[in-house]
Formats: sequence, structure tokens, C-alpha cells
Amino acid sequence: MSKNKLKPGTYIFPLPIVIVGAKIEDKVNFMTVAWCSVVEIDPPMLSISVSKNHHTNVGIRKNKTFSVNIPSEDLVKATDFIGMKSGAEIDKSTIFEVFYGELQNAPMIIEAVLNMECEVMNTIDTGKGHEIFIGQVINAYADKKYLTNGIPDISKIKPLIYATGQKSYWKVGEKIGNAWNIGRNYR
Ligand SMILES: Cc1cc2nc3c(=O)[nH]c(=O)nc-3n(C[C@H](O)[C@H](O)[C@H](O)COP(=O)(O)O)c2cc1C
Repeated sequence: MSKNKLKPGTYIFPLPIVIVGAKIEDKVNFMTVAWCSVVEIDPPMLSISVSKNHHTNVGIRKNKTFSVNIPSEDLVKATDFIGMKSGAEIDKSTIFEVFYGELQNAPMIIEAVLNMECEVMNTIDTGKGHEIFIGQVINAYADKKYLTNGIPDISKIKPLIYATGQKSYWKVGEKIGNAWNIGRNYR
């Protein structure tokens, strides 16, 4: 066996990059998040793991709402920028065009290809500096041009993905098969 022992780490990749939106005292704020995951399917729920120091958290804690926006490859520079600058230092409210759905205080990004407005159902303190907000997706939005048969189409969305460790952005490659199908006759 030629396996090298690595420094223990969360070597999960690629990760999708999302932009989380919240409102802090009437000001819209957005931050870049790679640690976003699916928690439940019915009702649809997701989690974001965010450092307790971030400005965005102040709004999420208070309003119990946030948005998750999926940026396409073409938003890479803006996405990187909002992941380096805090809303506590600069005004990030005018970087994107904003719209609202059903929930107040969950600003969503028009330029993003897909948007989800979420209500906080649970908050978990990791005890190590991050808090995990578990949000129920109340509504999701996407322009028709990103859908095929009403379903978000990865080849049209061109989501931005992140390589953990290497700290770099990548684009999606090619489809290799259908899930719950390609392995059917493996044995
Ligand atoms: C590629 C990338 C991924 C990031 N992922 C996360 C993440 O998953 N969780 C987190 O707490 N911060 C993450 N950040 C850092 C925040 O986006 C960054 O600190 C941001 O400035 C916080 O903004 P705020 O203080 O206005 O909330 C990421 C940054 C980048 C560039």
C-alpha cells in the first residue's frame, strides 16, 4: 500500500460555493460560504456552518431568516470579494441586485442562478468557533433558462465549485451517468 498519511482535515471536495444573504439592521449583507449541506428532503432543509464572528450571523440570529444563492461561474470575482471583506468593514449591500420573496430579511440575488429563502429551524454551536444554522427552504427561485423539464439543470446553471485544501474555484465537468441507475447491474 502506498498511501501517505495526511494531516487530519476535512478533505471533502468539491464543495459547492453559495452566497448567504441576511439583513443586519436594515442593511443587506452577503457572504461566501463553502460549508453548506443538505439536511432534510421533506420539508427541504439545509445547513450552513459559519464562523460566529461573521457580520452575517448577527442578522441571521436576530431575524431567524437567511437566503442561499447559487452563483454561476461568471460571478466568481464578486463571490471571492464578498468572501474576503466583512460587512462590518464595508457596505456590501450594493454589490448585487436584490429581490425578496415571502420572508422579510432574507435578501436574494437577482444575478445568482438559483435562490432559496430559508427560515432558521435550529442553531447548533460547535463549541469551536462556528455555528450551524439549519434552515428550512420556504421557497426557491430560478429563471426558466436554467431549467430542463422544470428541474434545475447543472449544465445550464454552471455552478461555481470549490476545491478544499487547494483553495481554488473550479467549474463542473461532464456527466458520467444517471444516479440510482448506472450501478444497477454492477453485480
Ligand atoms: C471560497 C470561500 C469560502 C468560504 N466559506 C466559508 C464558510 O463556509 N463558512 C464561513 O464561516 N466563512 C466562509 N468564508 C469566509 C467568509 O465569507 C468571509 O469571512 C466574509 O467576509 C464574512 O462576511 P461578513 O462578516 O460580512 O458576514 C469563505 C470565504 C471564501 C472566499
